[in-house]
Amino acid sequence: MTAIGDSPLARRVRAAATRFTTPLLPDDYLSLVNPLWSARELRGRIVSVTPEAEDAATLVVEPGWGWTFEHSAGQYIGIGVQIDGRFVWRSYSLTTPPSRDGRRLVVTVRAMPDGFASHHLVHGVEPGTVVRLAPPQGEFVLPEPLPGKVLLLSAGSGITPIMAMLRTLDRRHGSGSLADVTVVHSAPDADRALFAEELDLLGRRHPGWRIVQRHTSAAGRLVLTGSGADGEMLEDVVPDWRERETWACGPAAMLDDAEKLWADAGNADALHLERFAASFGAAAQEGMTQGGTITFARSGRTVESDGATTVLQAGEEAGIPMPFGCRMGICHTCVAPLRTGAVRDLRDGTEHRVADTDQSSQTVQTCVTAAAGDCTVDL
Ligand SMILES: Cc1cc2nc3c(=O)[nH]c(=O)nc-3n(C[C@H](O)[C@H](O)[C@H](O)COP(=O)(O)OP(=O)(O)OC[C@H]3O[C@@H](n4cnc5c(N)ncnc54)[C@H](O)[C@@H]3O)c2cc1C
Ligand code: FES
Repeated sequence: MTAIGDSPLARRVRAAATRFTTPLLPDDYLSLVNPLWSARELRGRIVSVTPEAEDAATLVVEPGWGWTFEHSAGQYIGIGVQIDGRFVWRSYSLTTPPSRDGRRLVVTVRAMPDGFASHHLVHGVEPGTVVRLAPPQGEFVLPEPLPGKVLLLSAGSGITPIMAMLRTLDRRHGSGSLADVTVVHSAPDADRALFAEELDLLGRRHPGWRIVQRHTSAAGRLVLTGSGADGEMLEDVVPDWRERETWACGPAAMLDDAEKLWADAGNADALHLERFAASFGAAAQEGMTQGGTITFARSGRTVESDGATTVLQAGEEAGIPMPFGCRMGICHTCVAPLRTGAVRDLRDGTEHRVADTDQSSQTVQTCVTAAAGDCTVDL
């Protein structure tokens, strides 16, 4: 995301910087004074990296100049971190309410097996590192006022946006809130469970909250679709789940099952999901044999790309400023006009094509499409 702080003060400072530093870029001078100052992009400094559980760490980031955003609990930010000389962008849910001075962003990252950015953020990044930031966004937020009965369902690192919600409710209502909230969180075992002690504490502080922490290595996965023969069912753990407005975040399979269960119960509107990854599946596998040259018309760059790498990733790897939000086909922040050639939607294999002779273009989502032959996008 390329948004910058746009307050009147930020605009005045930027204009002044441009006047005084032309013909050199004002950013060069601003960065010399303070690496967190940039007129072009939002930046932040990693203040601390604290182990949270096995293979997970909590990062506190101090945002720099231009960060004027307040987030809602459940939203996520983009973090761009330099690894091996190039910036890699990933999304992370904020895990705390906005800090009172707006100077602290907190995320908790689980290092995925073979995960490129997450492994670096958990095990490699040093406090003091300057990162790029994209502003908070996302619709996975609790309404105000809170519905009468709430279920928060999570597994693994899916607890992160839910933790922000619980901490926000706790801060807003103080101890003893009577809100009727049930939390069911699954982790593989005690070593990999995030925020376990704090969840227990919150359960004790709020008489209306029921917090169930499950360890799947012993109890098995919570069964959403299937029968009791497959293991412990949601019905057994939360008998009144149908009456509860539900927010769920976790692995794709769990969320797919939840979608089916709520839809079968005729209650799809009461379920709100946050997915951490788009499911590309077979279309991406097919795409491995295709690909082509992507021309980024405005940047004047061309990139050879395989048929499984998204246009967004290909552009980022070439150092092109690419707009993005969710990175999984939901928010449409990444859309760009396809001028010529073809791209394939990696979710379902749909091809979008614009002939060289066409005067018009098609809008495509760069985060879920890959080159299907040579193509030109207007970025
Ligand atoms: C809205 C949103 C919020 C997020 N919040 C958090 C958060 O709070 N904490 C957190 O740890 N992560 C969160 N993520 C996931 C995060 O953005 C990265 O996808 C994750 O850290 C893996 O990045 P990586 O570079 O290590 O993996 P990559 O190197 O990109 O991928 C490694 C392997 O893992 C697979 N993979 C990548 N991402 C996922 C995923 N999310 N689930 C399953 N498989 C995946 C890839 O297909 C590949 O096989 C969030 C994602 C989104 C979209
Ligand atoms: S970044 Fe959200 S749809 Fe592409």
